[in-house]
Amino acid sequence: MPATTLEQLVSLSKRRGFIFQSSEIYGGLQGLFDFGPLGVELKNNIAASWWRTNVYERDDMEGLDASILMNRLTWKYSGHEETFSDPLVDCRNCKSRWRADHIKGKCPNCGSTDLSDARPFNMMFKTQVGPVADAESYAYLRPETAQGIFVNFANVQMSTARKLPFGIAQIGKAFRNEINPRNFLFRVREFDQMEIEFFVMPGTEDEWHQRWLEDRLRWWESIGVSRSHIQIYDVPKADLAHYSKRTYDLMYDYPTLGYEEIEGIASRSDYDLGSHSRDQQNLGLSAKVSPNPDSLARLTYFDPESKRHVVPFVVEPSAGIGRCFLAVLSEAYDDQIVKAPDSEKIQATADALQAFLKSVGRNEKISATARDAMLERGEAIAKSLPESLPQIETLLGMPAADQIEVGKKLRGQTQPLIDEHFRTVLHLKPHLAPIKAAVFPLKRNHDGLVSLAKGLRRDLQIGAQMRTIYDDTGAIGKLYRRQDEIGTPFCITVDFQSLEDQTVTVRDRDTMQQERVPTNELRTYLQERTR
Ligand code: GAP
Repeated sequence: MPATTLEQLVSLSKRRGFIFQSSEIYGGLQGLFDFGPLGVELKNNIAASWWRTNVYERDDMEGLDASILMNRLTWKYSGHEETFSDPLVDCRNCKSRWRADHIKGKCPNCGSTDLSDARPFNMMFKTQVGPVADAESYAYLRPETAQGIFVNFANVQMSTARKLPFGIAQIGKAFRNEINPRNFLFRVREFDQMEIEFFVMPGTEDEWHQRWLEDRLRWWESIGVSRSHIQIYDVPKADLAHYSKRTYDLMYDYPTLGYEEIEGIASRSDYDLGSHSRDQQNLGLSAKVSPNPDSLARLTYFDPESKRHVVPFVVEPSAGIGRCFLAVLSEAYDDQIVKAPDSEKIQATADALQAFLKSVGRNEKISATARDAMLERGEAIAKSLPESLPQIETLLGMPAADQIEVGKKLRGQTQPLIDEHFRTVLHLKPHLAPIKAAVFPLKRNHDGLVSLAKGLRRDLQIGAQMRTIYDDTGAIGKLYRRQDEIGTPFCITVDFQSLEDQTVTVRDRDTMQQERVPTNELRTYLQERTR
């Protein structure tokens, strides 16, 4: 069962070092996160999978890594200076600021309806370039990686002699001064985008738009994001971005949030190349663009068949790594019963949970928001016991839960049950798993076992380039649980038999089955199963 709440993912991410709040020791900064030791591995593996599928496994793609700061005319002619805005409202009562389309006419902070009219707020961050701070010396942190591709179109096309259709792929940082960053990695101010600008002959863009839609859905499936959790939203004309002719938003069913955009696949017509091109009036553009007296280049393609210069049309699949990271974790997450608790114990927990909820309902010291949130969560948990038992931990971690005295009793009752009967496991696709294998010696104070285990780890990590860890800090059962929780597909135990016949036990994360594998076949065995 995938994650049911965002809190499960937040809690796992913090506990196991996937994600940290940025500059946490100074109180953090809203909408900014750091990827910890496991997070950076998962993020890099997502990026590598995207690059492999979209660049290496196709014949029509090139890669690019453009700079984050660009001449600010880029953002003038891309249309971002004028239109990259969200509607901002002020609450006159508590002075907070909100994105108008995210609140329903009422301040989420104080409940006041005394709000200003909405006005556009441009989301691009500005920074100074060079030592002189004057009106001319600023640049923007790019709000999308796409423009780095458009302004390099001619460089790439001429240096590679590519013919249409072909695409340029890029993965890199983007920055948006979101008015209200929220929902963990979902809406942040600094994030990584994976973008493709695919250049096609005018008139073929609709066909390519459909093909990219299918290709992208296939990739999501290949990284474990089930097709049944994605909806395709054909964005209505009135809501299209300024550059778009038609856009499909892929909407993923995030826990807690419901269906939200994970990727946009836009048909951008000849808007971008046309906007950045000189000599626009002679290009026969279909898009409405602003006059550009500043560009030094004519961004056209000479079509050898028709012997004409054309401005290519563009199809753009664009996804954020953070949103992908959340979806991957959510799909992989599983609080699994390994041994069913007996019915008496379940009944006792159900009673303790009801006592807790009753106490929450009666408590007048906690805010109505905290109370309602706990009651809603608690009732959902009560309905699906015993599967939902591990979620009691999340309930007890909610705001104001620590003020409920009977919470201690509930925790005391559930914790041993969770430890004995459940395991949290991330069923990550092996090629995405941060750690591919973990090696344990059966005894940590036995020289022969330790030295064989450490040797295997070194061989797998350095020799086979597979992220592998060595752990001897607990009983084997506990070490298995620790690896299950971070999605390590294979655990290898070195035992006394290993010293005699050079075999080890390899335990599969998902089936929990073990088999003996000769040490000299271990590399190949794991490589074949973690690709
Ligand atoms: N070049 C097109 C473009 O940037 P977009 O729909 O604004 O289009 C593309 O963004 C993707 O970038 C989104 O589908 C989402 O995955 C990600 N994204 C956008 N804003 C984000 C934010 N504030 N935090 C996290 N990811 C974001």
